[in-house]
Amino acid sequence: MTELDSKIAELRAKREQGRLGGGQDRIERQHKAGKLTARERLEILLDPGSFREVDAFVVQRARDFGMDAPENQILGDSVVTGWGTIEGRLVYVYSQDFTVFGGSLSEVHAQKIVKIMQMAMKNGAPIIGLNDSGGARIQEGVVSLDGYASIFLHNTLASGVVPQLSAIMGPCAGGAVYSPALTDFIFMVKDTSHMFVTGPDVIKQVTHEDVTKEVLGGAMTHNAISGVSHLAADTEEDCLFLLRELLSYIPQNNMEDPPYVPTGDDPLRTEEALDTIIPDNPNKPYDMKEVIRLIVDDRRFFEIHEHYAPNIVVGFARLGGHSVGIVANQPAVLAGVLDIAASEKAARFIRFCDAFNVPIITFEDVPGFMPGVAQEHGGIIRSGAKLLFAYCEATVPKITVVTRKAYGGAYCVMNSKAIRSDLNLAWPTAEFAVMGPEGAVNIIFRRALAEADDPDALRAELVADYRERFANPYVAAARGDIDDIIEPRDTRPRLINALEMLRNKRDSNPPRKHANMPL
Ligand code: HXC
Repeated sequence: MTELDSKIAELRAKREQGRLGGGQDRIERQHKAGKLTARERLEILLDPGSFREVDAFVVQRARDFGMDAPENQILGDSVVTGWGTIEGRLVYVYSQDFTVFGGSLSEVHAQKIVKIMQMAMKNGAPIIGLNDSGGARIQEGVVSLDGYASIFLHNTLASGVVPQLSAIMGPCAGGAVYSPALTDFIFMVKDTSHMFVTGPDVIKQVTHEDVTKEVLGGAMTHNAISGVSHLAADTEEDCLFLLRELLSYIPQNNMEDPPYVPTGDDPLRTEEALDTIIPDNPNKPYDMKEVIRLIVDDRRFFEIHEHYAPNIVVGFARLGGHSVGIVANQPAVLAGVLDIAASEKAARFIRFCDAFNVPIITFEDVPGFMPGVAQEHGGIIRSGAKLLFAYCEATVPKITVVTRKAYGGAYCVMNSKAIRSDLNLAWPTAEFAVMGPEGAVNIIFRRALAEADDPDALRAELVADYRERFANPYVAAARGDIDDIIEPRDTRPRLINALEMLRNKRDSNPPRKHANMPL
């Protein structure tokens, strides 16, 4: 054996030792808990053989509490970092290793993450974080807290520069939650992932509430109730596949366009089913997601925030191979009304699309903003303003299709012509008005109705007259507020044509440090 041979053998042995992380026992414990290890996750996430690790030889630097013992010098410490590819496209990754000190965040753990974040920003590629950690490394105290703070800073600096995706695949507690919270999309795995600022034990002491980890901060809690998380996966594998699919709709960085994905779906395809989807009764619901699926390439709609504020629908799809962000009122839930949660959900999605050059298609059927004391006291004014602000400031191609109701303030908000929409199309079933016929008649004819011999008959007559006048797209089209009225079956070819027409759109906002969005 030459000297080089023995050095190579030493290198290989060290690498092998590093790959074992906290050791075989802890790997088995991880598997028994229904979880994959940090490296197994990366193998599923990335293209085979593409992962290149950095900082595999980094060791933690704490000396107190026996941390200087040789067995605590674990190569790579508690996070695996590096880069690889997904469908051939570069991504930077970090994957917290729960087998090493519970994946807790040490000074070097933070430095490893920040290093790949800086590389991602410099080289213009997404950052994916797989989180599975007991939080701050208790033995390191403030050193660990500083590590978190530097990650938060880099999350903020990277925001809008490169996409940042977080998967929660175990515990994520305390201040640690704020790194994922600063990223663009959070994925959670049902049953095995949890996020909370303070856990059940502290809650019991402080507020005397009894709550389980799952109810407090499990995947469905954050997907359906708090809205903190955007996607819920049944298993870790599903979660990693969803991450891969999401990336296919978005560009590598803010200077690029999303990838073009060829499709066999004919761009000129007309869809007769759309002609009959709107019920004759304007108060009857229909499923806007079906409208979307009938129009987009291969019926594939990648929904974001599916379980949160389902009265509005957001997600990615492709039209003629090009990525689009879809924002759509959902008449099947609460008649598609805009409330606090729906406004915030859509505003955040629109801002992502605008930051990363994804054109926005809006499907509109909205009866207005949600009335009620709870909504007013909860700040529907501030929340609705977020949605308005997001639409107004967006400079990507913006197209609206009004399928039915475009009422009141919600008409203005949902990408109306006056807020810089590029193209506004309406189906013949569209209705534009300050409010619905019944409400309008009760207000403007209050006195006449009070004095009428047969108020119900008069009301019916007035409602019919109002509907005749306003419940159509021709008044809006006569003013140019609607650019064209189209047959529903033609929506797909018309949208693909419009996106082509807008391919080289250039628009910008006035120079300033940053706007003051109503937060
Ligand atoms: C150091 C930790 C650790 C931590 C876990 N470990 N958390 N080591 N610092 N924060 C170690 C354990 O000692 C154990 O080591 C191994 O990781 C696995 O932990 P277990 O408790 O055996 O696992 P489990 O039963 O699955 O419980 C996981 C857990 C629990 C729920 C995460 O470990 C836990 O509650 N940890 C503390 C969580 C916490 O309070 N962190 C601080 C939050 S505040 P061995 O050697 O036995 O395998 C915070 C502030 C961030 O993070 C602020 C940012 C601004």
